[in-house]
Amino acid sequence: MTVREILKMGDERLLRQAKPVTAFNTPELLAGIADMRETMIAANGAGLAAPQIGWDVQLVIFGTGQIIPRYPDAAPIPPTVLINPSITVIGDEMQNDWEGCLSVPGLRAVVPRPMKIRYTGVDALGQPIDRFAEGFHAKVVLHECDHLMGILYPMRVKDFSKFGYNSVLFPNLAPESDNGR
Ligand code: NI
Repeated sequence: MTVREILKMGDERLLRQAKPVTAFNTPELLAGIADMRETMIAANGAGLAAPQIGWDVQLVIFGTGQIIPRYPDAAPIPPTVLINPSITVIGDEMQNDWEGCLSVPGLRAVVPRPMKIRYTGVDALGQPIDRFAEGFHAKVVLHECDHLMGILYPMRVKDFSKFGYNSVLFPNLAPESDNGR
């Protein structure tokens, strides 16, 4: 396993429409996922999308597995590998909460997101995943899956008065929390 470089906003590889995964449970796929997991953990993130390491496939990983200090009110999200995802928004309730991204280091913004979703896809073995999610869980999945469509969270910001540097917005947060997803 290798900690990979995370591409930063401005890199054109973050703007691609990612390609579907067609072969499952292969050594290449499993090795890529292992690298992503290691990279996400090293960066203290709650999720990572394959395009963020320059891997042009529809694959995201996310999950906290435990309460994380930056999101103390959020219920733990099971560690998940989600491939070829599809998302359906449920209802019209929205959430407005702070969001960060490992490809946009040091910054945070309030991003409007649907409150409730259903997401489907498959795991690394090609087994189906079909879940309902709300709140923080929904937000993480929406954020990660946006990466597969070449969308970074700043493109979704509506109120630019709530877009700024972590160190200014949240001076009491530990420096190692200055990342996001
Ligand atoms: Ni991100």
